[in-house]
Amino acid sequence: MKHKVLQYGKLMPSLEKQLTEAFDCKRLVDQADAKAFVAAHGREVVGLATAGFADAALIDALPSLKVISSFGVGVDKIDLPAAARRAIPVGNTPDVLNDCVADLAIGLMIDVARGIGASERHLRAGRWASQGAYPLQRRMSGKKLGIVGLGRIGHEVAKRALAFDMDIRYHNRRPVLDTSIAHEPSLAELARWCDFLLIIVPGGAATQHLVNEAVLNALGPKGFLINVARGSVVDEAALVRALQDGRIAGAGLDVFEHEPQVPAELMAMDNVVLVPHIGSATVETRAAMAQRVFDNLKSYFDTGKLVSRAT
Ligand code: NAP
Ligand code: 8YV
Repeated sequence: MKHKVLQYGKLMPSLEKQLTEAFDCKRLVDQADAKAFVAAHGREVVGLATAGFADAALIDALPSLKVISSFGVGVDKIDLPAAARRAIPVGNTPDVLNDCVADLAIGLMIDVARGIGASERHLRAGRWASQGAYPLQRRMSGKKLGIVGLGRIGHEVAKRALAFDMDIRYHNRRPVLDTSIAHEPSLAELARWCDFLLIIVPGGAATQHLVNEAVLNALGPKGFLINVARGSVVDEAALVRALQDGRIAGAGLDVFEHEPQVPAELMAMDNVVLVPHIGSATVETRAAMAQRVFDNLKSYFDTGKLVSRAT
């Protein structure tokens, strides 16, 4: 008999096909009354395939649940303590997205420093012809990069930044053993030292507003903030104020506190590059992530172990 799996949120069609072929998989989005469906059938569900969300109410409503497989490496929208209380392992999709997220981080750095998007808007609006050359921008090569979160993705950013002759330091709670990159125990000191402060730590309560007014002030009027982690890590209201006051030079943002809402103040600024959470959004990477969601479930049911386990 096929294992009963509940799908929460929409997943890639190729993954949904795999899930329905291998398991007795039902999509919650297809149910007219999701609550009533969970109340009637939740007891039979042993696997949860999710687009990234699983709160305590959902986990508690599935009393036979054995495994959660989540699309994405970040598990900040999954109630990990609720899963842990029932010893339910949570699978995620690390590593396969490192390259694409790191590529985007570098892209945001170049764009915000050199004004690629902003100068293109100048050209497209006919201002090159009517007003003349675009104002001089800032160099990125050879500058100082502070990485907040030298983990899987942070290491890939560092590798790329070395090719731009950047001087790199990082801030983690604990120093990384196998790296020659200098550890900076104080986030504010790292911000004071660097030209680009790149955020790539997990989201959640432990990193909520890690980048606050004091960190932004330390980054200073020549410093750029790049966030490809989670919107919750940066105090967005403080960021808007710092940009409005010219207390930092600019920002490159893939993630926001209240996605898909983006503050109008940020939209209005030319020294801010805004993209809609596209860090992993390439055909190749999303296919690899989808495969990992499936493989985690399959492996758990076949062997009792996940391919990649977040907790
Ligand atoms: P990872 O390998 O676990 O690396 C996270 C790093 O952050 C670790 O080096 C960790 O070191 C550090 N860290 C954790 N808490 C910290 C804190 N409070 N202060 C300072 N450093 C801290 O994770 P990853 O695979 O690189 O992914 C990182 C995050 O990126 C994900 O959790 C996700 O939220 C985000 N992400 C975003 C996108 C996107 O589309 N924009 C795509 C993928 C991932 P210590 O534990 O020693 O502090
Ligand atoms: C995805 C991400 O965009 O992996 C993560 O943590 O933030 C991204 O890769 C997201 O998980 C899917 O919506």
